[in-house]
Amino acid sequence: LLINGALLMTAYLLGSIPTGFLAGYWLQKIDIREYGSGSTGATNVLRVLGAKAAVAVLLIDLLKGAIAVGIVKLGVVQLPNVALSEDWTAWLVVLTALAAVFGHSKSVWLGFSGGKSVATSLGTLLVMTPPVALAGVAVFGMTLAASRMVSLSSLMSAIGINVFMITLNEPLPYIIFAVCAAFYVFWRHRTNIDRILAGTEPKIGQKVSS
Ligand code: G3P
Repeated sequence: LLINGALLMTAYLLGSIPTGFLAGYWLQKIDIREYGSGSTGATNVLRVLGAKAAVAVLLIDLLKGAIAVGIVKLGVVQLPNVALSEDWTAWLVVLTALAAVFGHSKSVWLGFSGGKSVATSLGTLLVMTPPVALAGVAVFGMTLAASRMVSLSSLMSAIGINVFMITLNEPLPYIIFAVCAAFYVFWRHRTNIDRILAGTEPKIGQKVSS
């Protein structure tokens, strides 16, 4: 139990690494949370700091989730004297993923603020179940091409990932992860949803003032 707790704490701290905030601080000495959408995620970094910084933040945020889940799934850390059943491993993967996702949006270093959980969720999924993750990316890409709204694309891919989890017969813990993550991602996007419905959500490439 202690080791599991330590794993979850490690995942939370990994997720907590405030990549977007650090990019804003290093590149322009600003608190990115005071600009654009106020998120520390790659979309807002793109808006405020530009493409290079956004790609770097996106990759690191993906990695945070991937490493957290990889530690458990790929057995990077072998748990001593613990015989884990297949099933329990899947649950542990899911709990670790949720801890990383939560850390990303409620960072201990940023007074429990942060991003909107999309990149880190995708990172966890890429290790958990690559086919579903890639299908989610495809839904994201298609929605982005059609709408040019990153938020709408994130929301559509969260729904799509649930559909693919079920149709590809993924294990129950993974399906439950997808449902929880989707609810959480929708919750984190509630101001975006209001703007999408009002027709005022900014499109990619559009400048937004704070
Ligand atoms: O991944 C976050 C994205 O879906 C929305 O970000 O900054 O436009 O609220 P933002």
